[in-house]
Amino acid sequence: MKINGSLGIIGAMDSEVEHILSFLKGSRREKLFGLDFFISNVNTADIVLVKCGVGKVNAARCAQLLIDRFGAGALINTGIAGGVSPQMEVGDVVVATELCQHDFDITAFGHVKGYMSTGADDRYPTFFAADPVLSDNLFECAKKSVDENRIKRGRIASGDVFVSSAQQKKEIFDNFGAFCAEMEGAAIAQAAEYSGVPFAVLRVISDRADGKAAESFEKFEAQTAALSSEIIKSFIELI
Ligand code: ADE
Repeated sequence: MKINGSLGIIGAMDSEVEHILSFLKGSRREKLFGLDFFISNVNTADIVLVKCGVGKVNAARCAQLLIDRFGAGALINTGIAGGVSPQMEVGDVVVATELCQHDFDITAFGHVKGYMSTGADDRYPTFFAADPVLSDNLFECAKKSVDENRIKRGRIASGDVFVSSAQQKKEIFDNFGAFCAEMEGAAIAQAAEYSGVPFAVLRVISDRADGKAAESFEKFEAQTAALSSEIIKSFIELI
C-alpha cells in the first residue's frame, strides 16, 4: 500500500490505542500540546499513533496535528462503537464507507439533520467519503480476525453523544442509515477531507446504543477495542 507521507492512527481512549502501542516496537514519544504522539518506523512508512480523547473536537484537532506536524499522508481511526442498525451485535465490525455528524443541527433553517451548510444539496445530510483503497485493505485485514458475515461496510454517524436509548438509536438509523454511532470518526473525516488526506475508519461494536449501552460498553470495551487493534496490526503489516 502506497502512503504519501506517514500513517496517522487515532484512537480516543487508552483501550483503543494501548494494544497498538505494544506492537509498535521501539517507538519514540513526542509530546505536543499535552498529547503523546508515538512515532515508529514500519517497513516503508512512519506510523504516528495518538490517543486523541473522546469527542469530535479532540479528534479533529489530532487529525490536523498529524497532518500539519507529523506529515500524515493517510489517517486511520480505530476503536469501538454502538450499533444503531438493528442487525448489529457486539463484536461485529464496521468499515466506514462514509461518515456524517448526527448531532449537527441547523434544522431551524429548514435543512435536514446532519446537513453542514456546505452548499451541497440540502435534502441530504453531509457525508465525508472514506478512501476506498485504505478501506478495502481494512476489510481484508478484518477478514483475518472475524467471520466475513460479521463485517459490514457502510455509514458511520458521529456525535458528541454516547448513544444510549432506543429512541436516539432509531433516529440516527432512520436519519442517516448508519450501521453504528461513535464520537470521533466524522470529525477526523472532515479534517482529513479538507486537507486532501485520505482516511478510513474501523469500528468494532461494543454495545447496541440502547438502554443497556453503558453496561454493555463496560463489559465489552476491552475485548472489542482489542479486536479493532488486532485488525489494525494486520493493516500495519501491509505497509
Ligand atoms: N462508542 C461505543 N459505544 C458508543 C455509543 N453507544 N455511542 C457513542 N459512542 C460509542
